[in-house]
Amino acid sequence: MRDGTPTTIYRKEYSAPVFSITDADLTFAIYDGFTLVSSILHLQRQREDEAPWVLDGEDLEIEQIEIDGTPLQQHEYSYDGRQLTLPQIGESCQLLTRVRIYPEANTALEGLYRSRTIYCTQCEAEGFRKITFFLDRPDVLAIFKVTVEADKASCPILLSNGNAVAQEDLTEGRHRSVWHDPWPKPCYLFALVAGDLESVSESFTTASGREVALNVFVEAKDVNYCDHAMDSLKRSMKWDEQVYGLEYDLDLFNIVAVDDFNMGAMENKGLNIFNTSCVLASPDITTDAGYLRIESIVAHEYFHNFSGNRVTCRDWFQLSLKEGFTVFRDSQFSADMNSAGVKRVEDVSFLRTHQFAEDAGPMAHPVRPDSFIEISNFYTLTVYEKGAEVVRMLHTLLGHDLFIAGAKYYFAKHDGQAVTCDDFVSAMEQVSEKDLTQFRRWYEQSGTPNLIIDDQYDPTARRVTLTVTQNNGQNSDGASKPPLHLPVAIGLVVKGHSHTFEEGGSTRLLEVTEAKQVFEIDNVEDKPVVSLLRGFSAPVRLQSADDDDTLAALIGSDSDDFVKWDAMQRYASRVIEAQARGEPLSDAFISAYRQAMSSDIDDAMKAQLLTLPSEEYLADRQAQHGLVDVFEIRGAREDIKKILATEFEAQWTSWFSRYENPETYQANGRQIGQRALRHLALSYLSQARPEALDWAETLLGNADNLSDRLATLRVLVNGGDESTRSAVLGNFYQQWQHEALIVNQWFTLQATRPSADTVESVIALQNHGAFDWRNPNKIRALVGGFASANPIAFHRQDGAGYAFLGDVIARVQSANPQIAARLCTPLTRFRRYAHGVDAMQSQLERIAGLDNLSRDVFEVVGKALDK
Ligand code: BES
Ligand code: ZN
Repeated sequence: MRDGTPTTIYRKEYSAPVFSITDADLTFAIYDGFTLVSSILHLQRQREDEAPWVLDGEDLEIEQIEIDGTPLQQHEYSYDGRQLTLPQIGESCQLLTRVRIYPEANTALEGLYRSRTIYCTQCEAEGFRKITFFLDRPDVLAIFKVTVEADKASCPILLSNGNAVAQEDLTEGRHRSVWHDPWPKPCYLFALVAGDLESVSESFTTASGREVALNVFVEAKDVNYCDHAMDSLKRSMKWDEQVYGLEYDLDLFNIVAVDDFNMGAMENKGLNIFNTSCVLASPDITTDAGYLRIESIVAHEYFHNFSGNRVTCRDWFQLSLKEGFTVFRDSQFSADMNSAGVKRVEDVSFLRTHQFAEDAGPMAHPVRPDSFIEISNFYTLTVYEKGAEVVRMLHTLLGHDLFIAGAKYYFAKHDGQAVTCDDFVSAMEQVSEKDLTQFRRWYEQSGTPNLIIDDQYDPTARRVTLTVTQNNGQNSDGASKPPLHLPVAIGLVVKGHSHTFEEGGSTRLLEVTEAKQVFEIDNVEDKPVVSLLRGFSAPVRLQSADDDDTLAALIGSDSDDFVKWDAMQRYASRVIEAQARGEPLSDAFISAYRQAMSSDIDDAMKAQLLTLPSEEYLADRQAQHGLVDVFEIRGAREDIKKILATEFEAQWTSWFSRYENPETYQANGRQIGQRALRHLALSYLSQARPEALDWAETLLGNADNLSDRLATLRVLVNGGDESTRSAVLGNFYQQWQHEALIVNQWFTLQATRPSADTVESVIALQNHGAFDWRNPNKIRALVGGFASANPIAFHRQDGAGYAFLGDVIARVQSANPQIAARLCTPLTRFRRYAHGVDAMQSQLERIAGLDNLSRDVFEVVGKALDK
């Protein structure tokens, strides 16, 4: 370990800050190789006790400290590299510090660092302490004035939060900009950018008629790739006005794109910083999924301006207060902009495969965690995706209008404050007058609830009886976790038609609150097929009678997109599991699949419906009653895929050739759906027809967009022989090597080729000229893709996949702890598997024994080995 065993921080130990920092006046003098940061803070004591004046500051080189104008001598303060303790002062003071930092040497990409030629910052969660001394916690809100000075030729653009208030030239080719942000904010929302950037600029008129200048700043070569992000931003601003009544609160909104970024994007006040992969778009460099993702990330960061910035978190245990709520908001926005049904299916599919696995593994934690060692490890699928589901359940329980009223009340009541998840629920409770006491357990309990629903029909009484049982697992002391308050939306399909309930409408909401509960529905004219958990109304594992007839009926006639899709997922999973046991494929499944092919839904939804459950989802199912065998899963899934490919060859062929003369590419819903179905058809055909490779090659040659190119390339790479593979990959690289984002996709394509010898390819690609250990996108594309999306190569029986990942983690862990900790995830789930358990465990042990182990990796690996 770096500096002794790291300490665990507990939520219950929260205490208010000893003093406030009301104003921060910062000056950054950026030089080649180092930066001087001068800070003047106004500190005001908040507590009566004798608690010392302590500020956070990590590895800062102190040049000067003054209190109220008087320099401090070295013996008057103490600094251990993490905390600065000042002498006792009176009620308040002005603290001046000057420190020297080294952005060029910052490989962790936290604090102030340099991405290629651009200086930028990433402060959330605890990066500000690497810039200057401060109380680096979200409940200390200050008004920031920021002066940035740098060489004018290499850094013509100087940005910070808020509004630009002055700009002037200095001597020696330097210049300065002064920025002022009128809104008090925690330091994690501070940002600074300096570099040679160009911008695309537009403006937005708010509902009340204010003009807001909008800019997207990028390197000159990328200036043609900004339109989609700009349009997405304007749509987000409009949507938040229309749906939540929230109007932007500054005259300027800037987005900056940088290449080296640990995450996707960051919501700094008035100065969002984005990973280039989440903002740049054009048909040549962006897939259909990429267009949708950019739209949702731009929206997400914009929405944080209220859910996160104007109302922020009291402490980092409350992270889901801003992230869960904002993911919910961005998903509602995307549903409104595009197909709501497809968006829901994609979100649920993601949650069930990835968040459920997290909740069943060693890093399981409640949406509001009780403790952590390193907060960076808690930007998890549980906090984000399950957190968003919890907010979504409130929306379902309250109904749209009361939910929005509750949100408006929350924003008004807590404007400018740092609050808790509980404050959010209380606001909803006050406005709706609904008792949410039991609902709060969703924030306290980890694990995925199991919901068992049994249905009976009594023809004489014309009554449906549903018996609902919930099982939420056990606490560490062995006691059952108490029941949750969960909304279960149901419908009935009677004689092929949706049933209208007595209260009107075809969906009824059941509020389940007990461990076991019975619901009765009267006046049902015939035995129905019950459509359960419509819209996936609660994040649970549902067990219900899923005989072939019920599933086929739901696939054929349910009106709910999620239920229809889920029925097919379940049916196909059962068929794949039966195949693994050597049972023959039933005609019933073939006819249900045929019916799905001809159902009256749009292409995008159809492509979702006809896609077999992923290997990860099948693994999660297998893990429910035994150990996961990735080879068995893949084998059986491929067998079924081949059968469906042959059986429906005519339909696949007709879908593939439907658009022989395609229109010019547009990322609109209709075209995206058409391409999705066409690519699915090609992927099936490649299992049935040798000519499919030629068709893929032709389409690759004619394509005018990245989606078609990658879909065809994938078929050629996965299905072609070695010489085809190296030829197409070589040509593609030749053509696109100047576009970093395409090269990332090229790495991922190779890393995810489902074959044992991919391990050797990936090892070789680490030494490719385009690979870069400093760039998280490259590491994610090659190593992340391999370890998390290529089960049969990663789990190769000789352990070579694990050893490769262990090598990579050992290599990156001290340079970039956040990225290294995330890469550990596939190893930490080692106890789930039927093969490779010892080999995975020994890689974890090797990592645990590394010198200089970062706190991030220490926590993740420690928890994995502990359990
Ligand atoms: N606040 C986060 C970014 C962040 C996360 C910074 C962790 C530092 C540490 C931002 O709002 C966010 O959530 N970004 C997501 C994308 C979003 C669409 C879910 C990301 O970066 O992946
Ligand atoms: Zn966020």
